[in-house]
Amino acid sequence: MKIQDIQKEIVREVISEEQIDKKLGEIAKLIDEEYKGKDLLLVGVLGGAFICMADLSRHISVPLEIEWIAISTYGHGTTSTGVVKILKDLFTDIKGRHVLIVEDILDSGLTLSWLKDNLSTRGAASVEIFTLLRKPDAIKIPVEAKYVGFDIPNEFVIGYGLDYAQKYRNLRSIAILHPDVYTQKS
Ligand code: IMP
Ligand code: MG
Repeated sequence: MKIQDIQKEIVREVISEEQIDKKLGEIAKLIDEEYKGKDLLLVGVLGGAFICMADLSRHISVPLEIEWIAISTYGHGTTSTGVVKILKDLFTDIKGRHVLIVEDILDSGLTLSWLKDNLSTRGAASVEIFTLLRKPDAIKIPVEAKYVGFDIPNEFVIGYGLDYAQKYRNLRSIAILHPDVYTQKS
């Protein structure tokens, strides 16, 4: 899906396909340097990270494995409920492994601070975070992300894996969702 397909549902595009691709290439180079000779495991957070994972992992040159975890924080709305729950856990033991969490967006920090702590207690050699997007003005719990794609304004965005009520994940770029879309129903 392209931006033209949902012109009336968005305010504007904030990050283009080209910008994302370029940024992922740059970050992959840093990851290649950092994880050379290390046992790298990318842990994607379902479902928002699926496109990011596909593209980032293919830019990386060092050997790696991919795993997925699903946690719930948001339900169907646009604000956090504050509750974190594991819906699907990892299949493998991460003891002694170098884990890089791959996430779509760092918003309040609730999800990632919880997940980083949780994975660290399992005896990983290291646990770091890659997040494609970060909203610096929305942060409530400070979380250190080693790799950040883009800082964006504190507005609800969709596309490139990010959803609103499970929709728009297949948009190729990232756009600010028009408030009419989530206010008209209530
Ligand atoms: P946090 O726990 O508040 O940092 O929120 C992280 C999760 O909330 C992300 O993994 C997203 O699934 C979701 N989220 C936060 N902001 C947005 C947004 O602007 N668009 C879509 N999903 C978002
Ligand atoms: Mg998510």
